[in-house]
Amino acid sequence: SDPLRLGIAGLGTVGVGIVRIVQKHGDLLAARAGRPIVITAVSARSQKDRGVDLSGYAWEDDPVALAARDDVDVVIEVMGGHEGPAKHTTEAALAAGKDVVSANKALLAIHGQALAEAAEATGRVIRFEAAVAGGIPVVKSLIEGLAGNEITRVLGVMNGSCNYILTRMEDAGLTYAEVFEEANQLGYLEADPELDVGGIDAGHKLALLAAIAFGTQVDFSGVALEGIGAVTIEDIRQAADMGYRIKLLGVAQMTGRGLEQRMSPCLVPATSPLAQLQGGTNMVVLEGDAVGQIVLRGAGAGEGPTASAIMADVMDLARGTRYATFGQPAHTLRRARAATAAIP
Ligand code: HSE
Repeated sequence: SDPLRLGIAGLGTVGVGIVRIVQKHGDLLAARAGRPIVITAVSARSQKDRGVDLSGYAWEDDPVALAARDDVDVVIEVMGGHEGPAKHTTEAALAAGKDVVSANKALLAIHGQALAEAAEATGRVIRFEAAVAGGIPVVKSLIEGLAGNEITRVLGVMNGSCNYILTRMEDAGLTYAEVFEEANQLGYLEADPELDVGGIDAGHKLALLAAIAFGTQVDFSGVALEGIGAVTIEDIRQAADMGYRIKLLGVAQMTGRGLEQRMSPCLVPATSPLAQLQGGTNMVVLEGDAVGQIVLRGAGAGEGPTASAIMADVMDLARGTRYATFGQPAHTLRRARAATAAIP
């Protein structure tokens, strides 16, 4: 049958990871999807050597042009940024009648409703498994695996960089400033580190999960956000003395007053699985009225894990699995009434 033809916009760590998987696993992907999965075109800011063979693919300097190509069925947006090229490319792909696979949590957390409506208008979908908790299939778990449940709560550690900083402060007895510098040197932080340490990146992810879980329009501005910048080594010691650890924890739940979304440093009992979470790992807990509690844990970032999540979405589209962007039609998503005010 017809191949599914991919256009990749962005050849950073994740884009290269996708190329590697498609090249390495062509046969198994084709067997599972019942059709070949091929890359036809790629786009990036420069044509530097990235350690992968791109010679078989058409090159576009402009990702918007890539999105409009006739030989591309699915546009994979792995550039990042919530305005500018990433937004234009996503919009252009939908307008050209293509499905989009995105790793862009900021774009979707801020413009998700408008983009989901635009997708619906042309009968397309946006898939964003890679945008939330990297390699952990949390979006699919909510939309597919738990489709028969009323979701009562979603919580977890959704930013590996902050988890690294907090665990390292505790383990090595280093100050926030020292570990921040170390993490930055190691390349663990976003280009704008405030996205990580300010809790913004994790807040984007929580807002996306809340929309799916509660059937509400994604509402990032309704997340009460507090980052980890004010956590001191003394806070961590005192917490440990009382049998707790400090984690940047996100919680979303529907209350009588409306949707509560919080992303803030929290005390968790030292014996709990959340407290045991080391380094750059993520953990997401999903609670449904029928299933009870599900715990998912794994790598929240990195080439392999993020590309793994992208490919799961690609395989959905190759197999013809066509649920709506947020798991239900965009026009049925309710406007969220925010129960939480921003943490001052
Ligand atoms: N900086 C993010 C993290 C990358 O550490 O979780 C993945 O979104």
